[in-house]
Amino acid sequence: FADADFSATVIAWQRAHGRHALPWQNTRDAYLVWLSEIMLQQTQVAAVLDYYARFLARFPTLRTLAEAPVEDVMAQWSGLGYYTRARNLHKCAQRVLAEYDGVFPSDPLLLAELPGIGRSTAAAIAAFSGGVRAAILDGNVKRVFARVFGIAAYPGEKKVEQALWLRAEALLPQQGIESYTQGLMDLGATLCTRSSPDCQRCPLQPRCVAYATHRVKDLPVRKPK
Ligand code: ADE
Ligand code: SF4
Repeated sequence: FADADFSATVIAWQRAHGRHALPWQNTRDAYLVWLSEIMLQQTQVAAVLDYYARFLARFPTLRTLAEAPVEDVMAQWSGLGYYTRARNLHKCAQRVLAEYDGVFPSDPLLLAELPGIGRSTAAAIAAFSGGVRAAILDGNVKRVFARVFGIAAYPGEKKVEQALWLRAEALLPQQGIESYTQGLMDLGATLCTRSSPDCQRCPLQPRCVAYATHRVKDLPVRKPK
């Protein structure tokens, strides 16, 4: 796979088959993008939709969220699980209000210093809200890379993860970072799933190492005991 072919394939697939009409798409408002990315960290799209709409009805702006009592934020989050996310969400809103005058920074390195925003989430927010060329690497993307490139090492291991980050950065397209980032997420979530990958519909299949070598079921390598 030439790197440019990989991103071009993902972008073309996303434009034809990916998700385009989710409520946090087609906006460059970093508050709307950030909220969706935090909710989507550990919750599937279908479950997030209702919560997202209700949350924004109660906290339409970053300021309303930052200035709300934490109990109100927890009440709105109730049912979504992983409640550390809600506490960090509130803290993050307060920090952005105090330190950035209510406007999220566009630099992913600065975003990643805020509560609840790791390196991959920072990149997703920067890409979707600012068109910044930054690499994501969440669990879904690690799985896709492990299979496409036939990486037979446990991706949770530090050295392997570092190598995956370098690869993720090398693969970034020159143009179309939003479609590329969304396409990678959608491929991992809808086609290259953990237990039932749909290789017949996958645009990466002609050049997927795992598919060619019959190792789709064996990759990514599971956590060693
Ligand atoms: N998971 C994390 N971010 C996502 C997004 N923007 N769309 C779909 N799934 C996601
Ligand atoms: Fe995943 Fe199959 Fe596509 Fe390879 S061909 S990337 S294993 S869905």
